[in-house]
Amino acid sequence: MLEYNQIMKNIIDKAAETHFLDKSEIIQLLSCDDEYLLIAADIVRKKYKGDAVHVRGLIEFSNICRQNCKYCGIRKDNTNVDRYRLRAEEVISFAKHAQDKGFKTIVLQSGEDSYFSTQKMVEIISEIKSLGLALTLSLGEKSTEEYRAYKEAGADRYLLRIETTDKNLYKKLHPHMNFDNRIRCLYDLKELGYETGTGVLVGLPEQTLESIAEDILFFKKLDADMIGLGPFIPTPDTPLANAKGGTLTQALKVMAITRLLLPDINIPATTAMETLHPQGRIIALQSGANVVMPNVTEGDYKKKYLLYPGKISVNNTSNQTIDATIKMLNSIGRTIAKNKGFRQD
Ligand code: 5AD
Repeated sequence: MLEYNQIMKNIIDKAAETHFLDKSEIIQLLSCDDEYLLIAADIVRKKYKGDAVHVRGLIEFSNICRQNCKYCGIRKDNTNVDRYRLRAEEVISFAKHAQDKGFKTIVLQSGEDSYFSTQKMVEIISEIKSLGLALTLSLGEKSTEEYRAYKEAGADRYLLRIETTDKNLYKKLHPHMNFDNRIRCLYDLKELGYETGTGVLVGLPEQTLESIAEDILFFKKLDADMIGLGPFIPTPDTPLANAKGGTLTQALKVMAITRLLLPDINIPATTAMETLHPQGRIIALQSGANVVMPNVTEGDYKKKYLLYPGKISVNNTSNQTIDATIKMLNSIGRTIAKNKGFRQD
């Protein structure tokens, strides 16, 4: 009979070669603690994506949100948040600064803030695109028409995490939201020609290994172009403040399996990973990730965009954050990509 370790190794090797696993194999990998999984993901990342890391400049332009996700620090009912909204000119100036520093992509992220009408967003998108940057949006759930208008204005990519594919859990965590609408959004985005990113939280209360396996199979079914995932971190002033959070190890495993099954997609080393471990993003970059998203929002805003506590580099200027990112990449022998970093590049 094969030893336990050999069985795991065989599953990992199969995934690295065929990029296919069934649900029970994924569950087996999620329950084992084998360093070999992370190593295999690193090898697949190198083979398909190389050593160049895509650096995307993140601008958090509004922390005003109409949603009430139970885990999120900027949920509508959290009255302890100092709410802000950047002016279009500020957003553009942060984007220009990032471009001067060599960034090729800007990510615009906000809560679901209805102040930013389709017209206002189209103006901001057009201005950023006129600079020659690639543009990713992360603005939450919108109508098909809104997504179409953003795309026609030049937006290239869109991030919308499904958060969990477990319908019951989704319902419990997202009051007044509808799982099917979120799925509709993701398929709309794909159909409209966006590079579409999704992802999940790992370690949510009541989340099972089985449901995480379903999450990974969903990434494959959607044929997501980008997957961003991280550990759930309990946040004060939210209904889940006293919940047990996720672990870095578990989030890394989910990320590594995702890399094995979707070998050519873009996967960021997320800040939530670094929140749980000082080297979290470095470990992620060595376990399948090929993207980092340093925050290029200036001033005090970063401190107010607290999805979870312990967010990294909130006291740094964007120059300091950018320099630290370059240093981090150099320290592990990785380079900075010179192109815009589309999936097929
Ligand atoms: N812990 C970790 N990640 C969180 N997010 C929101 N709240 C938390 C938290 N408490 C993530 C969600 C969202 C992304 C922008 O931030 O997955 O999609």
